[in-house]
Amino acid sequence: MSLLDQFSDITKSDEPMAQYTWLKVGGPAQWFIEPRNLDELEAVVRACFAEGIPVRLLGGGSNILIRDEGVSGAVIRLASDAFRRVSVEGTTVKAQGAAVLSNVISESVKAGLAGLETLVGIPGTIGGAVRNNAGGRHGEVGQFVKSVGVMTIAGDRFVRQGDELSFDYRFSSINELVITDVTLQLVAEDADEVARRMHKLWVLKKSTQPLSFQSAGCIFKNPRGLSAGSMIEQAGLKGTRVGKAEVSDRHGNFIVTYEGATAKDVLNLIDLVKARVNEVHSISLETEIQIW
Ligand code: EPU
Repeated sequence: MSLLDQFSDITKSDEPMAQYTWLKVGGPAQWFIEPRNLDELEAVVRACFAEGIPVRLLGGGSNILIRDEGVSGAVIRLASDAFRRVSVEGTTVKAQGAAVLSNVISESVKAGLAGLETLVGIPGTIGGAVRNNAGGRHGEVGQFVKSVGVMTIAGDRFVRQGDELSFDYRFSSINELVITDVTLQLVAEDADEVARRMHKLWVLKKSTQPLSFQSAGCIFKNPRGLSAGSMIEQAGLKGTRVGKAEVSDRHGNFIVTYEGATAKDVLNLIDLVKARVNEVHSISLETEIQIW
């Protein structure tokens, strides 16, 4: 029996991926699977492992570029509410991996817990945020992680404690297939004060980033001590277009896409920006977004 038969009610073949990503580009996944609960997820992962089918986990789709050729093998997405719960107990917040980061932030702030408000405006899921240590100049999610529940490519589940994890700039040592849940340790503070701080950061972010456009957050990592966005601006690249992809004129490190854009447009624009920045600044930019 093939994978498709065994999980036919949660599997789609050749499912176009563009709709699941913020850039709205990219080809189909050979199999696109949306398990309804943790046991079903485990069964799917075990079946793929047994059959030697490559598996990828798609998070919130906000830090990813999927090529026009699409993805061979299985793409799993955790769309069910069974993967999105958030609960607060004292100063500890527990969130399942596919909980939307903005929900985790708002639940924490409502409960008078400080820390995550610095992450306001970051799209995606808590799992995705933790895996890549999402953050910015005001803080990073990794500093609050007490433990994570993970599932390996073979379907085994275990807990990794904070002291066995390492976080760095847009990096974590978590390399299992799925982050099933995250436990965060925050600090109690006056809820209104935390909310005020969050609001100030939100206004600042909205004024400097194209948050309402189709984009994938920052495209490039900041080279140590430097700002990719400002180097791109200095190279005169803001507003540069390839097909229907454009370097944001609000922030140089964002690419926005318009109706009809392809992954090739975005990839060509990335290459053009890298080449020009290298010419002007003699610096080789490294992409921050995941490219499948
Ligand atoms: N700047 C320009 N022109 C631009 C963009 C920026 O001159 O087009 C200047 C700004 O004026 C500022 C400096 O560059 O003096 C830094 O800019 P900004 O404060 O916007 O921060 P950033 O380094 O570009 C980082 C993160 C963002 C995060 C912000 C705010 C990276 C690659 N980017 O951006 O993260 O939101 O700080 O905390 O580390 C992301 O990773 O996807 C992301 C958006």
